[in-house]
Amino acid sequence: MTKQITSLQDYKDTYQRSVNDPETFWAEQADTFTWFSPYEKVLDWNFQKPRVQWFINGKLNITYNCLDRHLETRGDQVAILWEPNSPEDDVQTYTYKELLVAVCQCANALKAKGIQKGDRVVFYMPMTPELAIGVLACARIGAVHSVVFAGFSAQALADRVDDAKAKMIICSDFNNRGAKKIPVKQVVDEAMDIGCNSVETVLVHKNTGDAVNWSDDTDLWWHDIVNGQSTQCEAEVMDAEDMLFILYTSGSTGKPKGVVHTCGGYMVYTCFSFRNVFQYKEGDIYWCTADIGWITGHSYIVYGPLLAGATTMMFEGVPTYPDAGRFWQICEKHKVNQFYTAPTAIRALMAKGDEWPAKYDLSSIKLLGSVGEPINEEAWHWYDKHIGKGKSPIIDTWWQTETGGVMITPLPNITDAKPTYASYPMPGIQPILVDAAGNELPDNNVEGLLCIKFPWPSMLRTTYGDHERCRQVYFSAFENMYFTGDGARRDEDGRIRVIGRVDDVINVSGHRMGTAEVENAINEHPNVIESAVVGYPHDIKGQGIYAYVITADKNLDDAFRKEILAVVTKEIGPIAKPDKIQFVNGLPKTRSGKIMRRILRKIASSDTSNLGDVSTLLNPECVEDIKDGALV
Ligand code: PRX
Repeated sequence: MTKQITSLQDYKDTYQRSVNDPETFWAEQADTFTWFSPYEKVLDWNFQKPRVQWFINGKLNITYNCLDRHLETRGDQVAILWEPNSPEDDVQTYTYKELLVAVCQCANALKAKGIQKGDRVVFYMPMTPELAIGVLACARIGAVHSVVFAGFSAQALADRVDDAKAKMIICSDFNNRGAKKIPVKQVVDEAMDIGCNSVETVLVHKNTGDAVNWSDDTDLWWHDIVNGQSTQCEAEVMDAEDMLFILYTSGSTGKPKGVVHTCGGYMVYTCFSFRNVFQYKEGDIYWCTADIGWITGHSYIVYGPLLAGATTMMFEGVPTYPDAGRFWQICEKHKVNQFYTAPTAIRALMAKGDEWPAKYDLSSIKLLGSVGEPINEEAWHWYDKHIGKGKSPIIDTWWQTETGGVMITPLPNITDAKPTYASYPMPGIQPILVDAAGNELPDNNVEGLLCIKFPWPSMLRTTYGDHERCRQVYFSAFENMYFTGDGARRDEDGRIRVIGRVDDVINVSGHRMGTAEVENAINEHPNVIESAVVGYPHDIKGQGIYAYVITADKNLDDAFRKEILAVVTKEIGPIAKPDKIQFVNGLPKTRSGKIMRRILRKIASSDTSNLGDVSTLLNPECVEDIKDGALV
């Protein structure tokens, strides 16, 4: 197993060693895994290109390390513990042995349907065990999985399938989500109608059993082709730098980009980080509430925990069904030891009242995690007091889809935890703050742009099909550095607090969204001339979406607003619906025609005291108008 840090001194020593001699440090971690043939060189990198390669020419299969490797020591231990949407329904468990069988059967089915090494398979599934099984089955045979969060629209799904040129979509018939049933197969049908020309097969898992439309040309039932397969499937020999998965994420411009992660480095870092961040001990029940549609679910529901031989829980439902005590009821029921969730969930549950967690015995909880957005002080203290009872350290983990694993975090009971501070870098991670010109800000008590100056094993390798975009977005802002897109401050003791995005990306309920993406969706409405979208502080969501819209329509009634929401839901999904829509006559623009979002952000945040100098704008007069009509 990869190293597990045990004390503050150990952290300091390990960190120092990982920076002084990264190759030896990561080689030690890598050597704890099973390699089919050893790597020849630990690292080769050049951020200018960018080219990053870890464990060069090493051959492995990540599922061998997640599953086969554990059979001798923990074959009968529960690997996946599944809690269904309804508390009345039965829990399902898969031991490591059973999970391997299920993965092999699914892998054989994929092969039987023509999926080969390198082919892309898109998942559009609920949080059922079959999602984890399917993802691992792809990895078993070297197919590249791309999980699309099942809240995205048919259009957004088709966009991702087309970009990845996926050969297969795996979905369910319906998803259970609280009291709702979501017709997932129907969304896939719509996506197939508008795109998805590369798709040969749609594999449908019968989840609720409700009736679905069927196309004999493409559709197959999971149970028909998976259940009868052989229970053995040899793990494909993968190169360390072969693609493991693509995960689409939003940026400040254009369509979402496919972040590419590869087999070897991702394996080493997710296992190493899981064991240290969560201080997982044999027998613990670990629960991360994320959806596998996001990176958190990939790294810390599936790969990290399984690589580390943990028992990882998957929850199908939502925090408020059947009531606002569900999370805490589950913690009591399964005696959860590590609980990892997002600030937006904490805030939403905090708003429901202290009586909900008070009903349940939460004494099994040893540590609490937070991820996805800055956690505000009030939520931090509520989490600490009402869930952790003041005895469970809170780890505020900062990372990104692109980083593959947690980068900056307190280590529970090892380093201190200061509210709202992600605090200290993980071993091997070298974060720095720079000013706008790229000069390093070495002192404490400074604010700057967060960059990483040395590669780490699980960093993105490219953006699928467009390497230049990868270079431009992450490696061109500052020479020889990976730019995160985040602003951060370092306190007097060197702890880092990530403040938020400095680009045109907003973070709504922990979901990352490009303002340009939402604008493009709004602009699809035939009566919209132009729009500008910004984030504003929102009590529960962290950031809400504020849209300024110029329209030809003079009847600005609620029906029109609803049409705009419908268009966004159709283009992206309900998660991108603006919270506020203000109709305006003009948008503040620079002389070169660029929208001055800074001004719009201030107005949306009801902070109009100092809008700066607007006299250089092309149309300064519109600022007063917008201010007057601002929605509060
Ligand atoms: O702005 C940061 C914010 O979420 C962004 C990454 O989003 P995504 O790729 O969807 O991954 C989320 C889950 C890893 C970052 O650029 N972010 C994430 N975690 C934190 C955070 N901001 C502040 N504190 C955090 N702990």
